[in-house]
Amino acid sequence: MSVSRSVKWGDLLGMRKVETVEQMPEEYKTTLIKIIYALASTEFASVEQHQAWINQGPTPEDRYIQAQICADEAHQGFIDCRMLRSFGPEGEEKAANLLKVRMGEHLLSAFNVPFETWVDVCGFCFTLDLVAWYHLRALENCSFAPLAREMTTMVHEERFHASFGARRIRDIVQNPEYARLCGATKEDAQQAVDKWYPHALDTFGASKSKFSDLAVAYGIRRWGNEELRQMYKTDLDAQIQAIGLNVPDALKGRKIL
Ligand SMILES: [Fe+2]
Ligand SMILES: [Fe+2]
Repeated sequence: MSVSRSVKWGDLLGMRKVETVEQMPEEYKTTLIKIIYALASTEFASVEQHQAWINQGPTPEDRYIQAQICADEAHQGFIDCRMLRSFGPEGEEKAANLLKVRMGEHLLSAFNVPFETWVDVCGFCFTLDLVAWYHLRALENCSFAPLAREMTTMVHEERFHASFGARRIRDIVQNPEYARLCGATKEDAQQAVDKWYPHALDTFGASKSKFSDLAVAYGIRRWGNEELRQMYKTDLDAQIQAIGLNVPDALKGRKIL
């Protein structure tokens, strides 16, 4: 998607996009920092989860892709940190914090859960990297031009991670040779989907949220929390069914509604 010069939705529709912190009204700035920080909090956290699995995949392609996922997440973390620092002392402190926090201290619960098996790694990519893709798509062509420009690469990185996960979960269910290489069964694939599904739905935040409304009104996010969650759920549920697995109960294990 190409990046427009003017704002495409919300209260600032048609205005020239925001390029620098000096141009931002206070409420715009606090909303934007919150969004970039939430996004940033997942990147190095995700490297922490994936790194131990770089050399564990059953095929050379799996190993290459795990390494690429780590590189992509670190790239996104690096870009997010650079953007946070452009906000001055408040952002600098947040960027520094990202490099210090470890598993158990991350903002979103899904990133505090370690991967247990290779199937679990694939299940995470299938569900949570698709989450990332939806969150990034909601920022495509947003009103903060530097962030909109970064989306032109990040969106494709996440699509790649999510489609890898979807393909490998499908292979575990439908391709006996790959299942054998993983030492895994259809039940293991179902278990992995069941494990990550509630975490994935929770990442979209509370359905009633003033912050979410502001983010849309300021042209930062294209869709609000609940709308984005439903778009994601419709997409993922169809993929789960097409593979031949059961869609988990949407309320089971949920912490954020
Ligand atoms: Fe990411
Ligand atoms: Fe990812």
